Amino acid sequence: MILPTNARASSFPTTSLHSATSFYSSNNFFTPLTFKPLKPKSKPYSTTLVKSALQWNRKPQLAGDTPRVVVITSGKGGVGKTTTTANIGLSLARLDFSVVAIDADVGLRNLDLLLGLENRVNYTVIEVLNGDCRLDQALVRDKRWSNFELLCISKPRSKLPIGFGGKALVWLVDALKSRQEGSPDFIIIDCPAGIDAGFITAITPANEAVLVTTPDITSLRDADRVTGLLECDGIRDIKMIVNRVRTDMIKGEDMMSVLDVQEMLGLPLLGAIPEDAEVIRSTNRGYPLVLNKPPTLAGLAFEQAAWRLVEQDSMQAVAVEEEPKRGLWKSYIFSFHW
Ligand SMILES: Nc1ncnc2c1ncn2[C@@H]1O[C@H](COP(=O)(O)OP(=O)(O)OP(=O)(O)O)[C@@H](O)[C@H]1O
Ligand SMILES: [Mg+2]
Repeated sequence: MILPTNARASSFPTTSLHSATSFYSSNNFFTPLTFKPLKPKSKPYSTTLVKSALQWNRKPQLAGDTPRVVVITSGKGGVGKTTTTANIGLSLARLDFSVVAIDADVGLRNLDLLLGLENRVNYTVIEVLNGDCRLDQALVRDKRWSNFELLCISKPRSKLPIGFGGKALVWLVDALKSRQEGSPDFIIIDCPAGIDAGFITAITPANEAVLVTTPDITSLRDADRVTGLLECDGIRDIKMIVNRVRTDMIKGEDMMSVLDVQEMLGLPLLGAIPEDAEVIRSTNRGYPLVLNKPPTLAGLAFEQAAWRLVEQDSMQAVAVEEEPKRGLWKSYIFSFHW
Protein backbone atom coordinates (compact mmCIF):
# COMPACT_ATOMS: atom_id res chain seq x y z
CA MET A 1 0.00 0.00 0.00
CA ILE A 2 1.48 3.25 -0.98
CA LEU A 3 1.17 6.82 0.11
CA PRO A 4 3.25 9.84 -0.83
CA THR A 5 5.54 11.62 1.56
CA ASN A 6 6.96 15.12 1.65
CA ALA A 7 10.52 15.49 0.55
CA ARG A 8 11.05 18.30 3.02
CA ALA A 9 9.42 18.74 6.38
CA SER A 10 10.60 22.36 6.37
CA SER A 11 8.48 23.08 3.32
CA PHE A 12 5.23 22.85 5.16
CA PRO A 13 3.35 26.11 5.65
CA THR A 14 2.74 25.38 9.29
CA THR A 15 0.58 28.40 9.97
CA SER A 16 -2.16 25.81 9.77
CA LEU A 17 -0.52 23.14 11.89
CA HIS A 18 -2.04 23.95 15.23
CA SER A 19 -5.57 24.37 14.03
CA ALA A 20 -5.23 21.30 11.87
CA THR A 21 -4.13 18.97 14.62
CA SER A 22 -7.58 17.96 15.79
CA PHE A 23 -8.72 17.42 12.25
CA TYR A 24 -5.84 15.09 11.55
CA SER A 25 -6.54 13.14 14.71
CA SER A 26 -9.93 12.15 13.39
CA ASN A 27 -8.78 11.26 9.94
CA ASN A 28 -7.47 7.93 8.80
CA PHE A 29 -5.00 9.47 6.38
CA PHE A 30 -2.52 10.07 9.10
CA THR A 31 -1.32 8.75 12.40
CA PRO A 32 -3.36 10.26 15.28
CA LEU A 33 -1.66 13.36 16.61
CA THR A 34 -1.35 15.34 19.77
CA PHE A 35 0.63 18.53 20.05
CA LYS A 36 2.90 17.85 23.03
CA PRO A 37 6.39 19.06 23.87
CA LEU A 38 9.32 16.86 22.99
CA LYS A 39 10.49 14.34 25.53
CA PRO A 40 14.20 14.80 26.26
CA LYS A 41 15.02 11.19 25.33
CA SER A 42 13.76 11.71 21.79
CA LYS A 43 16.16 14.62 21.29
CA PRO A 44 18.88 12.99 19.11
CA TYR A 45 16.50 12.17 16.29
CA SER A 46 14.02 14.97 16.56
CA THR A 47 16.06 18.12 17.03
CA THR A 48 16.64 18.96 13.39
CA LEU A 49 13.25 17.80 12.21
CA VAL A 50 11.41 19.69 14.90
CA LYS A 51 13.48 22.76 14.19
CA SER A 52 12.65 22.61 10.51
CA ALA A 53 8.99 21.87 11.15
CA LEU A 54 8.76 24.86 13.43
CA GLN A 55 10.01 27.27 10.78
CA TRP A 56 6.35 27.84 10.17
CA ASN A 57 6.36 31.58 10.29
CA ARG A 58 9.01 31.99 7.63
CA LYS A 59 8.01 33.08 4.16
CA PRO A 60 8.92 30.62 1.41
CA GLN A 61 11.84 31.72 -0.74
CA LEU A 62 10.66 32.65 -4.20
CA ALA A 63 12.75 30.74 -6.73
CA GLY A 64 13.13 31.75 -10.38
CA ASP A 65 12.50 34.99 -12.22
CA THR A 66 9.26 36.88 -11.78
CA PRO A 67 6.65 36.88 -13.00
CA ARG A 68 6.45 33.09 -12.88
CA VAL A 69 3.96 32.23 -15.59
CA VAL A 70 2.42 28.89 -14.67
CA VAL A 71 -0.22 27.06 -16.70
CA ILE A 72 -2.47 24.60 -14.86
CA THR A 73 -3.35 21.90 -17.34
CA SER A 74 -4.40 18.25 -17.58
CA GLY A 75 -5.64 17.03 -20.92
CA LYS A 76 -8.63 15.22 -19.45
CA GLY A 77 -11.54 17.36 -18.32
CA GLY A 78 -12.96 17.55 -14.82
CA VAL A 79 -9.84 16.44 -12.96
CA GLY A 80 -9.48 19.60 -10.88
CA LYS A 81 -7.60 22.25 -12.88
CA THR A 82 -9.86 25.12 -11.88
CA THR A 83 -9.99 23.93 -8.26
CA THR A 84 -6.19 23.82 -8.26
CA THR A 85 -5.89 27.28 -9.86
CA ALA A 86 -8.21 28.84 -7.27
CA ASN A 87 -6.63 27.17 -4.26
CA ILE A 88 -2.99 27.48 -5.26
CA GLY A 89 -3.61 31.05 -6.40
CA LEU A 90 -5.13 32.09 -3.08
CA SER A 91 -2.50 30.16 -1.12
CA LEU A 92 0.19 32.12 -2.95
CA ALA A 93 -1.63 35.37 -2.16
CA ARG A 94 -1.82 34.33 1.50
CA LEU A 95 1.93 33.76 1.40
CA ASP A 96 2.18 37.42 0.42
CA PHE A 97 2.91 37.03 -3.28
CA SER A 98 1.04 39.06 -5.86
CA VAL A 99 -0.98 36.80 -8.12
CA VAL A 100 -2.98 37.25 -11.31
CA ALA A 101 -5.12 34.24 -12.24
CA ILE A 102 -6.19 34.13 -15.87
CA ASP A 103 -9.22 32.03 -16.75
CA ALA A 104 -8.26 30.82 -20.21
CA ASP A 105 -11.09 28.29 -20.34
CA VAL A 106 -12.95 30.53 -22.71
CA GLY A 107 -16.02 28.48 -23.57
CA LEU A 108 -16.69 27.10 -20.09
CA ARG A 109 -15.24 29.68 -17.76
CA ASN A 110 -15.89 28.98 -14.10
CA LEU A 111 -12.88 30.18 -12.12
CA ASP A 112 -14.88 33.30 -11.23
CA LEU A 113 -17.57 31.08 -9.67
CA LEU A 114 -15.09 29.08 -7.61
CA LEU A 115 -13.63 32.31 -6.31
CA GLY A 116 -17.02 33.88 -5.63
CA LEU A 117 -16.14 36.78 -7.95
CA GLU A 118 -18.71 36.17 -10.70
CA ASN A 119 -20.71 39.34 -9.96
CA ARG A 120 -17.65 41.54 -10.16
CA VAL A 121 -16.48 40.61 -13.66
CA ASN A 122 -17.58 43.63 -15.69
CA TYR A 123 -14.90 43.59 -18.35
CA THR A 124 -12.83 40.87 -19.93
CA VAL A 125 -9.66 40.63 -22.01
CA ILE A 126 -11.71 40.85 -25.20
CA GLU A 127 -12.90 44.35 -24.22
CA VAL A 128 -9.31 45.29 -23.35
CA LEU A 129 -8.13 44.10 -26.79
CA ASN A 130 -11.00 45.97 -28.47
CA GLY A 131 -9.98 49.13 -26.66
CA ASP A 132 -13.30 49.33 -24.76
CA CYS A 133 -11.62 49.38 -21.35
CA ARG A 134 -8.24 49.50 -19.67
CA LEU A 135 -6.46 46.37 -18.43
CA ASP A 136 -6.86 47.39 -14.78
CA GLN A 137 -10.64 47.63 -15.30
CA ALA A 138 -10.72 44.00 -16.39
CA LEU A 139 -8.70 42.84 -13.40
CA VAL A 140 -10.98 41.81 -10.54
CA ARG A 141 -9.32 42.29 -7.18
CA ASP A 142 -10.25 39.77 -4.49
CA LYS A 143 -11.64 41.50 -1.40
CA ARG A 144 -10.27 38.84 0.94
CA TRP A 145 -6.70 38.98 -0.44
CA SER A 146 -6.07 42.19 -2.31
CA ASN A 147 -2.87 40.83 -3.85
CA PHE A 148 -4.95 38.32 -5.80
CA GLU A 149 -6.58 39.40 -9.07
CA LEU A 150 -8.72 37.51 -11.57
CA LEU A 151 -8.73 38.12 -15.29
CA CYS A 152 -11.30 36.47 -17.57
CA ILE A 153 -10.72 36.17 -21.31
CA SER A 154 -14.31 36.56 -22.37
CA LYS A 155 -17.91 36.61 -21.20
CA PRO A 156 -19.53 33.18 -20.81
CA ARG A 157 -21.02 31.86 -24.06
CA SER A 158 -19.47 34.67 -26.11
CA LYS A 159 -17.37 33.73 -29.12
CA LEU A 160 -13.73 34.64 -29.34
CA PRO A 161 -12.69 36.87 -32.25
CA ILE A 162 -11.00 34.96 -35.05
CA GLY A 163 -7.29 35.24 -34.57
CA PHE A 164 -7.37 35.26 -30.78
CA GLY A 165 -4.60 32.92 -29.77
CA GLY A 166 -1.28 32.49 -28.06
CA LYS A 167 0.05 35.82 -29.28
CA ALA A 168 -2.81 37.69 -27.62
CA LEU A 169 -2.05 35.94 -24.35
CA VAL A 170 1.65 36.74 -24.66
CA TRP A 171 0.68 40.39 -25.18
CA LEU A 172 -1.50 40.18 -22.09
CA VAL A 173 1.29 38.74 -19.96
CA ASP A 174 3.63 41.49 -21.21
CA ALA A 175 1.01 44.10 -20.34
CA LEU A 176 0.71 42.63 -16.83
CA LYS A 177 4.49 42.75 -16.44
CA SER A 178 4.63 46.43 -17.31
CA ARG A 179 1.79 47.62 -15.08
CA GLN A 180 2.41 50.75 -13.07
CA GLU A 181 2.06 48.96 -9.73
CA GLY A 182 4.71 46.47 -10.82
CA SER A 183 4.78 43.01 -12.27
CA PRO A 184 2.96 40.27 -10.34
CA ASP A 185 5.00 37.48 -8.77
CA PHE A 186 2.80 34.80 -10.30
CA ILE A 187 0.57 34.65 -13.35
CA ILE A 188 -1.46 31.44 -13.18
CA ILE A 189 -3.36 30.31 -16.25
CA ASP A 190 -6.34 27.97 -15.90
CA CYS A 191 -6.20 25.89 -19.08
CA PRO A 192 -9.22 24.35 -20.80
CA ALA A 193 -9.48 20.56 -21.15
CA GLY A 194 -8.28 18.92 -24.34
CA ILE A 195 -5.34 19.63 -26.58
CA ASP A 196 -6.88 21.82 -29.25
CA ALA A 197 -6.62 25.57 -29.93
CA GLY A 198 -7.68 26.64 -26.42
CA PHE A 199 -4.96 24.51 -24.89
CA ILE A 200 -2.32 25.82 -27.29
CA THR A 201 -3.37 29.41 -26.54
CA ALA A 202 -3.23 28.85 -22.78
CA ILE A 203 0.23 27.27 -22.75
CA THR A 204 1.88 29.76 -25.13
CA PRO A 205 2.97 32.42 -22.60
CA ALA A 206 3.79 29.89 -19.83
CA ASN A 207 7.30 28.95 -18.82
CA GLU A 208 6.24 26.30 -16.33
CA ALA A 209 3.32 23.92 -15.98
CA VAL A 210 1.37 22.14 -13.28
CA LEU A 211 -0.18 19.00 -14.66
CA VAL A 212 -3.25 17.91 -12.71
CA THR A 213 -4.19 14.27 -12.92
CA THR A 214 -6.39 11.84 -11.07
CA PRO A 215 -5.14 8.33 -10.32
CA ASP A 216 -6.99 6.66 -13.16
CA ILE A 217 -5.76 5.29 -16.43
CA THR A 218 -7.66 7.65 -18.75
CA SER A 219 -6.45 10.74 -16.95
CA LEU A 220 -2.89 9.39 -16.96
CA ARG A 221 -2.88 8.70 -20.67
CA ASP A 222 -4.06 12.26 -21.36
CA ALA A 223 -1.52 13.65 -18.89
CA ASP A 224 1.25 11.78 -20.66
CA ARG A 225 0.16 13.19 -24.03
CA VAL A 226 -0.01 16.70 -22.60
CA THR A 227 3.47 16.34 -21.07
CA GLY A 228 4.83 15.63 -24.55
CA LEU A 229 3.03 18.66 -26.01
CA LEU A 230 4.28 20.94 -23.23
CA GLU A 231 7.84 19.78 -23.82
CA CYS A 232 7.44 20.36 -27.57
CA ASP A 233 6.37 23.90 -26.72
CA GLY A 234 9.60 24.39 -24.77
CA ILE A 235 8.07 24.09 -21.28
CA ARG A 236 10.57 21.97 -19.41
CA ASP A 237 9.50 22.75 -15.84
CA ILE A 238 6.50 20.44 -15.47
CA LYS A 239 5.30 19.25 -12.07
CA MET A 240 2.23 17.21 -11.32
CA ILE A 241 -0.57 17.27 -8.80
CA VAL A 242 -2.39 14.02 -8.16
CA ASN A 243 -5.93 14.94 -7.22
CA ARG A 244 -8.85 13.05 -5.69
CA VAL A 245 -6.66 10.44 -4.00
CA ARG A 246 -8.50 7.92 -1.82
CA THR A 247 -6.38 5.90 0.57
CA ASP A 248 -9.23 3.48 1.29
CA MET A 249 -9.34 2.60 -2.41
CA ILE A 250 -5.56 2.42 -2.66
CA LYS A 251 -5.54 0.05 0.31
CA GLY A 252 -8.22 -2.05 -1.37
CA GLU A 253 -6.08 -2.00 -4.52
CA ASP A 254 -8.93 -0.34 -6.38
CA MET A 255 -6.98 2.82 -7.10
CA MET A 256 -3.46 3.51 -8.28
CA SER A 257 -1.22 4.91 -5.60
CA VAL A 258 0.49 8.27 -5.97
CA LEU A 259 3.80 6.43 -6.28
CA ASP A 260 2.39 4.39 -9.18
CA VAL A 261 1.24 7.60 -10.86
CA GLN A 262 4.61 9.22 -10.37
CA GLU A 263 6.40 6.18 -11.77
CA MET A 264 4.13 6.14 -14.80
CA LEU A 265 4.41 9.83 -15.63
CA GLY A 266 7.96 10.37 -14.43
CA LEU A 267 7.24 13.92 -13.29
CA PRO A 268 8.21 15.68 -10.05
CA LEU A 269 5.32 15.63 -7.61
CA LEU A 270 4.06 19.02 -6.45
CA GLY A 271 1.24 17.68 -4.32
CA ALA A 272 -1.25 14.90 -3.66
CA ILE A 273 -4.77 16.09 -2.88
CA PRO A 274 -7.23 13.76 -1.18
CA GLU A 275 -10.80 13.34 -2.29
CA ASP A 276 -12.65 15.72 0.00
CA ALA A 277 -16.36 16.53 0.06
CA GLU A 278 -15.39 19.96 1.33
CA VAL A 279 -14.00 20.76 -2.15
CA ILE A 280 -17.49 20.50 -3.59
CA ARG A 281 -18.99 22.52 -0.73
CA SER A 282 -16.41 25.26 -1.12
CA THR A 283 -16.90 25.30 -4.90
CA ASN A 284 -20.62 25.85 -4.46
CA ARG A 285 -20.05 28.62 -1.92
CA GLY A 286 -17.44 30.42 -4.02
CA TYR A 287 -15.11 30.19 -1.05
CA PRO A 288 -11.90 28.32 -1.91
CA LEU A 289 -10.95 25.52 0.38
CA VAL A 290 -7.66 27.02 1.52
CA LEU A 291 -9.58 29.81 3.25
CA ASN A 292 -11.47 27.32 5.45
CA LYS A 293 -10.91 27.47 9.19
CA PRO A 294 -10.01 24.94 10.45
CA PRO A 295 -8.37 23.80 7.25
CA THR A 296 -9.32 20.48 5.73
CA LEU A 297 -6.92 17.87 4.46
CA ALA A 298 -7.34 18.88 0.85
CA GLY A 299 -6.88 22.55 1.81
CA LEU A 300 -3.63 21.78 3.61
CA ALA A 301 -2.44 19.70 0.67
CA PHE A 302 -3.09 22.65 -1.67
CA GLU A 303 -1.20 24.97 0.69
CA GLN A 304 1.74 22.60 0.73
CA ALA A 305 1.68 22.40 -3.05
CA ALA A 306 1.71 26.21 -3.28
CA TRP A 307 4.64 26.34 -0.89
CA ARG A 308 6.57 23.89 -3.06
CA LEU A 309 5.65 25.82 -6.20
CA VAL A 310 7.18 28.97 -4.73
CA GLU A 311 10.43 27.22 -3.86
CA GLN A 312 10.44 25.06 -7.02
CA ASP A 313 10.48 22.10 -4.70
CA SER A 314 8.82 18.72 -5.04
CA MET A 315 7.81 15.84 -2.81
CA GLN A 316 8.38 12.11 -2.92
CA ALA A 317 5.88 9.31 -2.81
CA VAL A 318 6.74 6.29 -0.66
CA ALA A 319 5.08 3.00 0.15
CA VAL A 320 3.12 3.02 3.41
CA GLU A 321 4.61 -0.30 4.44
CA GLU A 322 8.04 1.30 4.14
CA GLU A 323 7.18 3.86 6.81
CA PRO A 324 9.23 3.13 9.96
CA LYS A 325 7.63 2.84 13.38
CA ARG A 326 8.02 6.22 14.99
CA GLY A 327 7.51 8.21 18.15
CA LEU A 328 5.18 11.09 18.73
CA TRP A 329 7.20 13.85 17.14
CA LYS A 330 8.13 11.70 14.22
CA SER A 331 4.43 10.99 13.75
CA TYR A 332 3.68 14.65 14.08
CA ILE A 333 6.17 15.67 11.43
CA PHE A 334 5.76 12.71 9.13
CA SER A 335 2.00 12.88 9.30
CA PHE A 336 2.27 15.49 6.59
CA HIS A 337 3.94 12.93 4.41
CA TRP A 338 1.71 11.02 2.12
N1 LIG B 1 -10.00 16.80 -4.27
C1 LIG B 1 -11.28 16.82 -4.64
N2 LIG B 1 -12.22 16.21 -3.89
C2 LIG B 1 -13.52 16.22 -4.25
N3 LIG B 1 -13.99 16.85 -5.35
C3 LIG B 1 -13.11 17.46 -6.15
C4 LIG B 1 -11.72 17.50 -5.85
N4 LIG B 1 -11.10 18.21 -6.81
C5 LIG B 1 -12.06 18.60 -7.68
N5 LIG B 1 -13.26 18.16 -7.29
C6 LIG B 1 -14.54 18.38 -7.96
O1 LIG B 1 -14.40 17.93 -9.31
C7 LIG B 1 -15.16 18.74 -10.18
C8 LIG B 1 -14.28 19.23 -11.31
O2 LIG B 1 -13.31 20.11 -10.79
P1 LIG B 1 -12.73 21.30 -11.66
O3 LIG B 1 -13.83 22.14 -12.24
O4 LIG B 1 -11.70 21.98 -10.85
O5 LIG B 1 -12.05 20.46 -12.83
P2 LIG B 1 -11.45 21.01 -14.20
O6 LIG B 1 -10.30 20.13 -14.52
O7 LIG B 1 -11.18 22.46 -14.12
O8 LIG B 1 -12.66 20.75 -15.19
P3 LIG B 1 -12.76 21.29 -16.72
O9 LIG B 1 -11.87 20.40 -17.53
O10 LIG B 1 -14.19 21.11 -17.05
O11 LIG B 1 -12.31 22.70 -16.73
C9 LIG B 1 -15.74 19.87 -9.34
O12 LIG B 1 -17.07 19.56 -9.02
C10 LIG B 1 -14.89 19.86 -8.08
O13 LIG B 1 -15.59 20.30 -6.95
MG1 LIG C 1 -11.85 24.07 -15.34
